[in-house]
Amino acid sequence: MTYTLWFNCHVATMQDGRWSTIEHAAILTGAGRIEWVGEYRDAPGGTHQRVDLGGAWVTPGLIDCHTHAVFGGNRSDEFQQRLEGVSYKEIAAAGGGIASTVRHTRAADAASLYRSARRRLEHLMRDGVTTVEIKSGYGLDLESERKMLSVARRLGDTLPLNVRLTCLAAHALPPEYAGRADDYIDYVCDVVLPTLVAERLVDAVDVFCESIAFSVPQSERVLRRARDLGVAVKIHAEQLSSLGGASMAASLGALSADHVEYLTEDDVRAMAHAGTVAVLLPGAFHMLRETRQPPVEWLRKYGVDIAISTDLNPGTSPALSLRLMLNLACVQFGLTPEEALAGVTCHAAKALGLSETHGSIEPGKVADFVAWEIDRPADLAYWLGGQIPNRVVWQGRLLTPDTDTSGLSRWEHQHDA
Ligand code: NIG
Ligand code: FE
Repeated sequence: MTYTLWFNCHVATMQDGRWSTIEHAAILTGAGRIEWVGEYRDAPGGTHQRVDLGGAWVTPGLIDCHTHAVFGGNRSDEFQQRLEGVSYKEIAAAGGGIASTVRHTRAADAASLYRSARRRLEHLMRDGVTTVEIKSGYGLDLESERKMLSVARRLGDTLPLNVRLTCLAAHALPPEYAGRADDYIDYVCDVVLPTLVAERLVDAVDVFCESIAFSVPQSERVLRRARDLGVAVKIHAEQLSSLGGASMAASLGALSADHVEYLTEDDVRAMAHAGTVAVLLPGAFHMLRETRQPPVEWLRKYGVDIAISTDLNPGTSPALSLRLMLNLACVQFGLTPEEALAGVTCHAAKALGLSETHGSIEPGKVADFVAWEIDRPADLAYWLGGQIPNRVVWQGRLLTPDTDTSGLSRWEHQHDA
């Protein structure tokens, strides 16, 4: 086996959600895995390929654990309406919102969905993202949900990116089921989930539990069905109101409850008990001009792990930078830069059920990491957007040469080499 020693760097391992820094460090990789990490002077001997990282700070590859990156159309018109005072709920009630993106996504062919999603993912990847979760949920019928998940899978097959697939068929009520939400839930449970799980297009199942979407009992039926099919579950909950969806999902062992601004203290206890991660989405909070903050103090008090994600979607969070979300999570929600970085590494991995293999720089884990030209790790949450020169190592292979931002053609070239 060829081993590579990455040296002349400092490492924030993010083990157990802490910086756990090692200065004057080195990392040994082989067969796409991390073999060893420690101080350079203690590095294992032998004839390794050597890569000088030029004094960079190395973090785990960033993990964006909640996106709706595959969709047709765009909703900047609704953005304008909201700025004029129309609410997200009012837009949804008038047939806009998710329903508008469903129309565009159903009408789009797979090739155009692939192209537009790929462009969005390129932004995330240049900013150090090596794993991304992509949800369906703008198809809302078997064929269109399959189209979305197949596009997501193809993105994972063709890009140097680990893509996880989440079926969110219960995202909204499709027009053909208007007034018949329970019938749609039957269809999701009896047809959509079993078929797509059998086609291996589903790593997890999600549901939007909210007054403008599905009730707690309806959401519970979907998640129970997913569990019976042997698939992990998660939930969009407590975003606009407090319904108890997060507690219900926690009682089913959900990987994560996402948004969660309106969690009660009892919900937080239930999540702590179940080990359910709280995924905070500051982009949606910002875009909807929400004022209710997620209960970060309770999450800390009860030891609920906190993840941060873009929620990249055309309605509430057209966010193309996960690093910008770190800043928003610190400034808007009061996280420390250390908590924020844990939220896109270690705890984001947990929210995807990937704790064993991803999210920290430790022996045995997949060799996904980023070497950043920064003075200290907190710089990642400090700059508002922009491009921090970085080099991405994905599965032990160097993808980007220093400041190259010319796009994936070069990445793919190196990837294929
Ligand atoms: O995570 N909350 C529900 N779903 C998305 C919004 C989807 C949309 O508006 O298109 C979210 O914010
Ligand atoms: Fe979402």
